[in-house]
Amino acid sequence: MDLDKITKEIMIDEETIISKVKELGKQITNDYLDKEVLLVCVLNGASMFMSDLMKEIKLPLEIDFMAVSSYGLSTKSSGVVKIIKDLDKTVEDKHIIIVEDIIDSGLTLSYLLENLKSRGPKSVEICTLLSKPSGGKTHVDTKYVGFDIKDEFVVGYGLDYAEKYRNIPYIFILKEEIYKA
Ligand code: IMP
Ligand code: MG
Repeated sequence: MDLDKITKEIMIDEETIISKVKELGKQITNDYLDKEVLLVCVLNGASMFMSDLMKEIKLPLEIDFMAVSSYGLSTKSSGVVKIIKDLDKTVEDKHIIIVEDIIDSGLTLSYLLENLKSRGPKSVEICTLLSKPSGGKTHVDTKYVGFDIKDEFVVGYGLDYAEKYRNIPYIFILKEEIYKA
């Protein structure tokens, strides 16, 4: 895989991501001292973020995973959110932090937020690595946001296009011809 041939622009390099993740981990640690935290990773996009983030949270937390449908193979939201894999743990008495890769329309997270709240946890907050401009879209309260980015389709650091590029350790924009191929 020749990255130079497919990259239009590197949006956030590895070093910048790592230092932001450390900062988010510190904030979460300070905000949840003496609380029972359950980190919920939204698969598959948040997998790399989750792995790095949990190392930076110095609390005896628990982790769990959910998978929901979002874009399928396209780059536009279908508007339909479906749970493909649910949590293995119960959430009563726990403070949930949903760990997500990106908020675009907000549909996925507003659905998840309501769904998890209805199960009776002590609290639910969101930690998203990326956020796209929210003008006119579903509003979702996000306590922790890594980066506000411009409205472009990005890949890398867990984010995919047609299930590829999740393994690249930085965030970049693909050349247009990749989408047409
Ligand atoms: P939303 O429901 O429109 O907020 O979409 C959220 C989901 O769409 C994320 O969890 C991602 O899986 C996917 N998504 C949104 N924007 C991008 C992007 O720029 N690159 C890759 N995936 C994206
Ligand atoms: Mg995706």
